[in-house]
Amino acid sequence: MRLNNKTAVVTGAAGGIGQAIIQKLLTEGARVVAADLSADALKVFQDIPADKLVTFAVDVTDFKQVEAMVKHAADTFGQLDIMINNAGIGLAKPLLDHDPVGDFDPVTNVNQKGVYHGIVAAGRQFRDQGTKGVIMNTSSVYAQMAAEMTFTYNVSKAAVDMMTKCAALEFAPIGVRVCAIAPGRVDTPMLRQYEALGLWEHIRKEQMRNTFTQPSEIADVVAFLVSDEANCINGCTVNASDGFENFKYPLLG
Ligand SMILES: NC(=O)c1ccc[n+]([C@@H]2O[C@H](COP(=O)([O-])OP(=O)(O)OC[C@H]3O[C@@H](n4cnc5c(N)ncnc54)[C@H](O)[C@@H]3O)[C@@H](O)[C@H]2O)c1
Repeated sequence: MRLNNKTAVVTGAAGGIGQAIIQKLLTEGARVVAADLSADALKVFQDIPADKLVTFAVDVTDFKQVEAMVKHAADTFGQLDIMINNAGIGLAKPLLDHDPVGDFDPVTNVNQKGVYHGIVAAGRQFRDQGTKGVIMNTSSVYAQMAAEMTFTYNVSKAAVDMMTKCAALEFAPIGVRVCAIAPGRVDTPMLRQYEALGLWEHIRKEQMRNTFTQPSEIADVVAFLVSDEANCINGCTVNASDGFENFKYPLLG
């Protein structure tokens, strides 16, 4: 098992991609702190033994809470080895309809500042432990593409990519790798919002394989990236997107 006895924190744990990452890390031998907004949402993990997984209610927009989450992981399992900053939210709204007072900050605070909080808290923990570590951020191919309706989301994910590069540079001397993964369209509650808009079939046909990426496929890539097999991958964003960013859709109508 690639992650035997490693301790990982995963934020956005109760969501589609977070749950899949946690399942995969557990099968690879890791011990996990599953963190999400509410204790209620975290009940999905209640059947997993406490020597394998503990839950932690956190709002990643609050640095003190993120710091406490990291400390809880080290106190519970001995040390932190892997930090996965995965929590994220979206906003689908044309830019001209934005409320500039209320629409920018919520997405930015979770997707950008939340990842920043995780990077700093985990980096300090690794430095204080004197151990190597890996920080993995969930970005999106929307960081690399313009898209209608998702202005704040794309901007926040572009920030994730740059934070990944800068943190990798600053943390390399203490033996910490920092990477990001960029999914395309993954079948999770976040993507299912398109169903309510009546756009599900439309966007499915835009996919090269005519199907969405599964959360487990993202989890497989993450498990590799946080393992020692990926030691030479650092300071970059790895696309796991079914090639979504490479094509102007629809492909053949
Ligand atoms: N689903 C996709 O198509 C897709 C594509 C690219 C990137 N992503 C990214 O993947 C990550 C996971 O998304 P998902 O698709 O699993 O979505 P999801 O909505 O299923 O899960 C997101 C989780 O984050 C949690 N969360 C939200 N705000 C939080 C906060 N302030 N503090 C702590 N937790 C918070 C939610 O409670 C939820 O459980 C996100 O960063 C998202 O932007 C998703």
